[in-house]
Amino acid sequence: MAQLPIITAPDPRLLKKSAPVAAVDAEVRQLMADMLETMYRAPGIGLAAPQVGVLSRVIVLDIAPEDAPPAPLKMANPEIVWVSDDDAAYNEGCLSVPEHYADVVRPASCVVRYLDENNAVRELTAEGLLATCVQHEIDHLDGVLFIDHLTALKRNIILRKLVKAKKLGAGAPA
Ligand code: NI
Repeated sequence: MAQLPIITAPDPRLLKKSAPVAAVDAEVRQLMADMLETMYRAPGIGLAAPQVGVLSRVIVLDIAPEDAPPAPLKMANPEIVWVSDDDAAYNEGCLSVPEHYADVVRPASCVVRYLDENNAVRELTAEGLLATCVQHEIDHLDGVLFIDHLTALKRNIILRKLVKAKKLGAGAPA
């Protein structure tokens, strides 16, 4: 497995729509494994392929608490096929929007259909943090960041700080 560099905003690659995979083959499985390793090391609870510069509809998640056994989820071509009427707000963050957090309102539960690592179609009913996380990651596949759910004012404040942080970080050891 390999750790991949994570792209941070603002970056045009994070705004692109990713393409579906034709099938979950050895190459996609390797990408899933590398993305999981990258996510665990970051550390984070979700990662989408465009965040590592691959414009494919692949996401990985693990919302298990630190003291619990790992519960990785690997999904290709994930699709939300049902959402609840009731909403929930979570204080979201993102590995591509480092050090910024904001409350985002999304459907409280959802059903996601996807291809698992064996290319089998599966459906998962998600609620709570998992529902938020899966919706957040699928947003990435459509070029949407959690800050896009905020008011323009709040989004622009965060974007300006990210630009500033990137300039300060330029030339510094990674
Ligand atoms: Ni994210």
